[in-house]
Amino acid sequence: MLLLLGALVADAQDASGPSIWSGVFTAAQAKRGDDAYQAGCSSCHGSDLRATDAEAVDLVGPGLRAKWNGKTLEERFERIRDTMPLGNANSLGDKTYMDILAFILQSNDFPAGSQELLPETAKAIVFVQKP
Ligand code: HEC
Repeated sequence: MLLLLGALVADAQDASGPSIWSGVFTAAQAKRGDDAYQAGCSSCHGSDLRATDAEAVDLVGPGLRAKWNGKTLEERFERIRDTMPLGNANSLGDKTYMDILAFILQSNDFPAGSQELLPETAKAIVFVQKP
């Protein structure tokens, strides 16, 4: 039921929220995220975001983008923060998790812009694949 509600909310925001294609993080933020990612995530997800651990998943590519499609960035942020790094969840601080999310977006060819991605703004932004 909660999942269904989430899907409905994401759909409703699809039309009205700011577009993920308009530049919703900064290049400097993604660079910080890159550093934090290399330190805390690359051992399983690979330094180029292609998984090196058999159980872990790639964090770039069409598979990831299809799975994330339609979800809000807030939902993705919470998913990562509350489960990763595997075995040490919620250990990096909200700001760093946002930076890492910005890095994942940049690595999937979403454009940087002039505003940092923040927990307050992530709620209204829906992950939408290129048509
Ligand atoms: C010890 C290995 C390990 C580390 C370190 C690790 N992960 Fe993971 N990660 C996994 C495994 C295994 C899965 C698949 C199981 C799951 O989804 O919980 C996963 C799943 C994910 C997913 C889900 C992808 C999706 O949408 O279905 C994301 C996103 C993710 N990791 C991001 C990260 C980030 C960001 C970090 C660093 C803060 C990180 N992981 C650190 C092992 C790891």
